[in-house]
Amino acid sequence: MGHVAGDVLLSLRGLSKSFGGVKASDQVSLDLRSGIITTLVGPNGAGKTTLFNMVTGHLVPDAGDILWQGQSLVGKSPWQISRLGIARTFQDLRLFDHMTVRENVLTVMESSAWLWQPGGSAASRARRERVEAILEATGLTHKAGVRAIDLAYAERKFLSLARVMATPARIWLLDEPASGLDRGSYERFIELLRKEVRQGVTVCIIEHNLDIVIGISDRIAFLDQGRLLADDEPSRVLNDPRLAAIYFGDMAA
Ligand SMILES: Nc1ncnc2c1ncn2[C@@H]1O[C@H](COP(=O)(O)OP(=O)(O)OP(=O)(O)O)[C@@H](O)[C@H]1O
Ligand SMILES: [Mg+2]
Repeated sequence: MGHVAGDVLLSLRGLSKSFGGVKASDQVSLDLRSGIITTLVGPNGAGKTTLFNMVTGHLVPDAGDILWQGQSLVGKSPWQISRLGIARTFQDLRLFDHMTVRENVLTVMESSAWLWQPGGSAASRARRERVEAILEATGLTHKAGVRAIDLAYAERKFLSLARVMATPARIWLLDEPASGLDRGSYERFIELLRKEVRQGVTVCIIEHNLDIVIGISDRIAFLDQGRLLADDEPSRVLNDPRLAAIYFGDMAA
């Protein structure tokens, strides 16, 4: 913790989105700064995933704007937004179940390669080496030839992270990537993310597990019923009795 936040990379300005009578996002304004891990917390249904969906073009906001290095993302497609360098994972992972682990990573890399890397066999070799490095970093080397569908739960979570690592994106939006991991796995996960952040990646992560939230966050944004109730240093958010009541009230329910 205690990383120094850099420039604002992504700025959410008054974002609202309703589904029927449900205000999934209610005038949320939040800046994501470079070089740190910002954690989105809040009870189920608070609107965390909805924020990601608006940023990545999977949902169009009813009102507000999303600025990425000064340019508006509203109205752009998910494909265009990922090309701008914003990568995400999904709560339900969305792996290519019938491809091997290595193919899952290589596919991401090949589909983003043509824009930022030259072609040819040298580039292809460089990509393959990068894939092996990512598999090593995520602990999946020994599973490289296994189909995604045949992986254990934790391995699937690490594979979804590996697929983000394979993009050239410098900002990662991770939707509960560590949920359900055992302690050993999530500690490895935190260590891996920290290393990537030290090397220049900016992360926004949705997470419920308080041990993980405490271990990972440089900054915490707290959402409830679509509203942003706090956006502050972890110690301030975690020690706010009002937020604890909302959070644990929900967990106990
Ligand atoms: N596509 C949709 N259509 C209708 N309602 C939606 C849709 N997406 C989200 N909602 C509703 O909006 C609210 C916020 O949902 P969201 O998925 O953003 O919550 P969340 O904070 O990610 O929750 P969780 O912790 O359970 O993942 C919920 O009431 C949800 O039912
Ligand atoms: Mg969600």
